[in-house]
Amino acid sequence: MIPPMRISQRAQSVAPFYAMEFGKHAAALEAEGHRVVKLSLGEPDFGAPPAVLDALREAVGSRPMTYTGALGLPELRLAIARFYGEQHGVDVDPGRVASAALVLGAAALVDPGDEVLIADPSYPCNRQIAESFGARVTLVPTSAESRYQLDTASVRSHWTDRTRGIMVASPSNPTGTSVPADELAAICELARERGAWRIVDEIYLDLGDHDAQGRPPRSVLSYDQEAVVINSFSKYFGMTGWRLGWCVVPEALVPALERLAQNYMICASTPAQHAALACFTPGSLAVCEERRAEFGRRRALVLDGLEQIGLPVPVPPDGAFYVYFDVSGTGLSSWEFCGRALREAHVALTPGRDFGVGTAETHVRLSYAASADELREGIARLGKFVATLG
Ligand SMILES: Cc1ncc(COP(=O)(O)O)c(C=O)c1O
Repeated sequence: MIPPMRISQRAQSVAPFYAMEFGKHAAALEAEGHRVVKLSLGEPDFGAPPAVLDALREAVGSRPMTYTGALGLPELRLAIARFYGEQHGVDVDPGRVASAALVLGAAALVDPGDEVLIADPSYPCNRQIAESFGARVTLVPTSAESRYQLDTASVRSHWTDRTRGIMVASPSNPTGTSVPADELAAICELARERGAWRIVDEIYLDLGDHDAQGRPPRSVLSYDQEAVVINSFSKYFGMTGWRLGWCVVPEALVPALERLAQNYMICASTPAQHAALACFTPGSLAVCEERRAEFGRRRALVLDGLEQIGLPVPVPPDGAFYVYFDVSGTGLSSWEFCGRALREAHVALTPGRDFGVGTAETHVRLSYAASADELREGIARLGKFVATLG
């Protein structure tokens, strides 16, 4: 008998991304003719700024879409470096910018057996990718007091002599909360002194609240130029399906990253790179800033709406368009709550199980990347659903 195909341990052990599983069930319900309010995915409803769509049409109509260099179009790397200068006051050499992201960063830094510290709760894919390269991830418990983020005390107390790196997303998914800049600087310094790398996922940074003086949140690069920064066109620029991100890495890492990029992917999508150049025009940035303000209005709507139906958000977000709240008072686990909310109220949410262990069975994530009308409808349906639970 022919033996069955062997599937790698890596592939067998990777957990599903439940947000996408719930998205799949929501799509199946829609295919049956139900109107589902989808608050499970972090996808801005706006799409790309209009100038980016024009640039895409112009690019595909005017040139053959050949490969670019493995690290990306030089003009795009330059535009991203300039954005750091103009938006965040940080000097970044375009040679350190690569049109690549977490898979390559992790491939460049993680060896099997390396211990990596990540907050619990946190975005699951970053953890899964690190584990795919053999990392032993330590999920560091957090609480509402630390805004569900790492702090120096928790990093220090979970550090071992096998710790090789830390991964932070600030603002975070699923809580939408940021690590204060002085705290993140201290965490990075602690790791740097111990020879450990820092991967900082800033994919929501430009959606973050500005301070009282109107200044945007600081990039980690303003205090740790050796951090590996991950970012993307998906969220602030509303380009989730375009599959284009970037990272800024220390100069010493560039050659390794380039070799990995050449072999793993050759290059990022060429049409997407050409179109993304139009993200950094004053017009597109003004569109994105208006959208950031709209997310602020949606956040207020959601915080108020959830409070009114008895599901208050313990720590309001300050950056990413998510709220994370406890549903255990309803008598259901968060898994049951999300399953029943989808089946009975046709509202798609994401259960805490995606994000770690500590809040896995109690908390639910709601994304307010959907329109205000959808959010109102979703909260009204959730209110009726919660009322049926007594
Ligand atoms: C913290 C975080 N990092 C990375 C990603 C992945 O984004 P992309 O669309 O750029 O792959 C997400 C998506 O939700 C996220 O929340």
